[in-house]
Amino acid sequence: MSLWQKHAIFEKNSIVLVIGILIVIAIGGLVEIVPLFYLKNTIEKVEGVRPYTPLELAGRNIYVREGCYLCHSQMIRPLRDEVERYGHYSLAAESMYDRPFQWGSKRTGPDLARVGGKYSDDWHRDHLRNPRSVVPGSVMPDYGWLEKTELNYAHVDADMKVLALEGVPYTAEMIADAGKDVVTQATTDSPDAGDLAKRYPKAQSRDFDGDPKRITEADALIAYLQMLGTEVDFKLYDDKANIR
Ligand code: HEC
Repeated sequence: MSLWQKHAIFEKNSIVLVIGILIVIAIGGLVEIVPLFYLKNTIEKVEGVRPYTPLELAGRNIYVREGCYLCHSQMIRPLRDEVERYGHYSLAAESMYDRPFQWGSKRTGPDLARVGGKYSDDWHRDHLRNPRSVVPGSVMPDYGWLEKTELNYAHVDADMKVLALEGVPYTAEMIADAGKDVVTQATTDSPDAGDLAKRYPKAQSRDFDGDPKRITEADALIAYLQMLGTEVDFKLYDDKANIR
C-alpha cells in the first residue's frame, strides 16, 4: 500500500480524521505554548527602568484617556530606518511597568518612545495648545483644555494600588506619599525634589506647563512625555556590551 493509499483511511472514516486533526492541532499548540512558560528568562532586566512617579502616572492616564495611542506608537522596531529616526530600538523591559502597554498599532504621528528631552516644556505646551503653531501643516488635534484643567489626582494612590497588585513594585510608602509627590514634582525648586529622585531615579521636578500657581493636566502629561525613553542610559548599556 502506497502512502497515498494509506491516506484514504482518513478520508473514508470521519472519526479517524477527527482524531488525526486533534493530534496535529495539539502538536501545533504545544509548539506555541511551551516557550511561553520560559518567557521570564527572555525579558532581560535592564538597569534604570523604574515605575512611574505619581505625576507621570497621572499624565499617562491622560495620554490613554485622550487616545494619543491612536496616532502614536511607543515601540521602536529594530530596523535601521526606525533606529536612525527615533534612537535605540525599544527593549521589552522598557514597557514592563506599562499596564496596558502603549506600543500602539498606527503611526499618524511619529513614535514617542524616546520623545523625552527632545523638546522644551514650552514647546510641548504650545504644541498641545495648537500643534500648527510649532509644526505648520500638522494634522494633530488641539488639546488646549489640558492646561486649563486642574489635575484631579485624588485617586492616583488607588491607581498605584491596582498596579501594585499587578506586580509593579510600588511600596506602601510610595502609595501613601502619592499626593505629596505629585505636588513636589510639579513645583520648580521644591525642597523635596532630591528625595523624590532618590525613590524614583531621574525623576524631573519642575513646573511643566508654565503656570506655577496650579497643577494642571498639562503638567502631568508633559512630565510623562519628558520622561519617555530617558530611563535607560544606552551609552552605558552599549559600552558594557562592547567590553564583553
Ligand atoms: C489624529 C492623530 C493624532 C493624535 C490623536 C495625536 N497626535 Fe500627536 N502628532 C500627530 C502628528 C501627525 C504629529 C506630527 C506633526 C506634529 O509634530 O504636530 C504629531 C506629533 C506629536 C509630538 C511630537 C513628536 C516628535 O517627535 O516630533 C508629540 C510629543 C505628540 N504628537 C504628542 C501627542 C499627545 C500627547 C497626544 C494626545 C494628547 C497626541 N499627540 C495625539 C498626530 C496625532
